[in-house]
Amino acid sequence: MKLPRQFFKPLAIGAPAPYRELPVQLERMIHFVPPHLEKMRAKVPDIAKQVDVVLGNLEDAIPSDAKEAARRGFIEMAKATDFGATGLWTRINCLNSPWVLDDIVEIVGEIGAKLDVIMLPKVEGAWDVHYLDQLLAQLEAKHAIGKPILIHAILETAEGVKNVEEIASASPRMHGMSLGPADLAASRAMKTTRVGGGHPDYKVLADADGDKPRAGYQQDLWHYTVGKMVDACAANGIKPFYGPFGDFSDLAACESQFRNAFLQGCVGAWSLHPTQIDIAKRVFSPDPGEVAFALKILEAMPDGAGAVMIDGKMQDDATWKQAKVIVDLARIVAA
Ligand code: GLV
Ligand code: MG
Repeated sequence: MKLPRQFFKPLAIGAPAPYRELPVQLERMIHFVPPHLEKMRAKVPDIAKQVDVVLGNLEDAIPSDAKEAARRGFIEMAKATDFGATGLWTRINCLNSPWVLDDIVEIVGEIGAKLDVIMLPKVEGAWDVHYLDQLLAQLEAKHAIGKPILIHAILETAEGVKNVEEIASASPRMHGMSLGPADLAASRAMKTTRVGGGHPDYKVLADADGDKPRAGYQQDLWHYTVGKMVDACAANGIKPFYGPFGDFSDLAACESQFRNAFLQGCVGAWSLHPTQIDIAKRVFSPDPGEVAFALKILEAMPDGAGAVMIDGKMQDDATWKQAKVIVDLARIVAA
């Protein structure tokens, strides 16, 4: 049975054939909380008012001897907090770990009705999604959970990138995907110790210009994978996200990495530190100047067809659809 895609809606009636479905629910930042730490759990009711999604992290960054405490802490925090319209997610341990079965069985059994999405790390192929899909179906039936729990895959191995399209279409439960640049770098044997972002040595030199020094231009290390992920997600009506940015001291670099991902089609990113919440909010909401220009396009072409000039720039059916993406997102942000 095909489950409803509750996070997406088609473009407006009367518009030309939908180019791409748009997210109804804002998920500009997935805010990571380490639930084994009581002091962090205590902040959750307040954090939940500021973010689009709260995620209890059980996987990497949680020490092995704190895995059970993190799971129990997440269940406790989920029971104790009213999340309102804010999404509640968890990142479980990976499928070949000793903790994952208890993560899934205990969490779905105790707070499954409150849980929106399970983030599944290190997904390598459709088979990983199928396993979780079946397990969730059994547990939802056992505990009479009426609403399907969705699956969000982290794209963080070379094998996963190779199979990204089949992962995106593996189940109607697929909510979306995040780039996991740290694990992906290790899996590909990239020579970096960073969590996302650029690298000072990843650049090509501009052509020599007489005696003047040549300028180096830094490139986005993640451009190829983000583009590949966005295409796989868009083709299957699910959401692409940039993942973590590990250097909390460099807010400008975080903003520029998030912005590249937004421009390429991502709808959000992870916030691992409170300072990244506002960055994600700003970046993944459309720029007011862009919205004003996009509105001009929609107004100048009420039936979405033909060609007009606005401020010296040619507009046609395709730019009408681009404008609609921006205006629809602005409306969801404003709602
Ligand atoms: C996230 O999990 C990453 O590996 O970057
Ligand atoms: Mg990872």
